[in-house]
Amino acid sequence: MKSLVVIPTYNEVENVESIVGRVRGAQPDADVLVVDDGSPDGTGDLADQVAAADPSVQVMHRTTKDGLGAAYLAGFAWGLERGYDVLVEMDADGSHQPEELYRLLDAIDAGADLVLGSRWVDGGSVVNWPKQREVLSRGGNLYARVALGLPLRDATGGYRAFRGAVLKDLLADEIASQGYCFQVDLARRSVRAGYDVREVPITFVERVAGESKMDGGIVREALWRVTGWGLHDRTRWLRRVRSS
Ligand code: GDD
Ligand code: MN
Repeated sequence: MKSLVVIPTYNEVENVESIVGRVRGAQPDADVLVVDDGSPDGTGDLADQVAAADPSVQVMHRTTKDGLGAAYLAGFAWGLERGYDVLVEMDADGSHQPEELYRLLDAIDAGADLVLGSRWVDGGSVVNWPKQREVLSRGGNLYARVALGLPLRDATGGYRAFRGAVLKDLLADEIASQGYCFQVDLARRSVRAGYDVREVPITFVERVAGESKMDGGIVREALWRVTGWGLHDRTRWLRRVRSS
């Protein structure tokens, strides 16, 4: 099976070369697509240099910072057009260790449709994360679990592998999520469609270089969208119960 690791970047000039090198070292058979949103710090140019030296690395340049969800949608479309069997999501900052990618790919090989690298299952962990990020992640996951009835420990995480055909199906409906709630959106669609979603433990290591792009707007978008999906699913269920 041919895999494409999609790495969205915005101002990751200190990280991009190292992450691509680590992916290529850990999974020499996998290709890499960097999706850069015109980073002012020159990430896109550096990624071009890396790509020039390695035909398995490609760079997509987008002109404006348009959110993590939009960057992944563009990268996925590129990969699906080219027939990749497996599409992987990975942060550029080293938080998602390429050396653990085999765990996700092995689960796909074993039959999973979507594999979530999970910080909150047995064996998973976070290293050096500020307390407030841990609280936000645990709280966000609890809320997603309760509001959406998701049987998942880490539906917000951004280290995942999708079977290509499944991703194509998930993307057939329009996806409006722009920010990090994109992750919850795809997890929810997969569970609802009855796909085989599995979680494998990962050790999430806080970035040492550059800055997180997480901000209040991203949290607010996640809150209102998750609440909206939850209400929507419940009213549908209520209507079904009433009419039966
Ligand atoms: N192209 C592009 N455009 N890339 C972006 C954008 C954007 O608008 N916003 C963020 N990125 C890139 C970053 O450069 C990084 O490579 C990756 O997307 C994730 O962004 P981070 O800023 O590193 O996110 P984080 O570490 O705070 O959050 C992580 O954990 C969340 C759950 O707790 C990510 O993995 C999220 O996906 C995840 O939801
Ligand atoms: Mn990160």
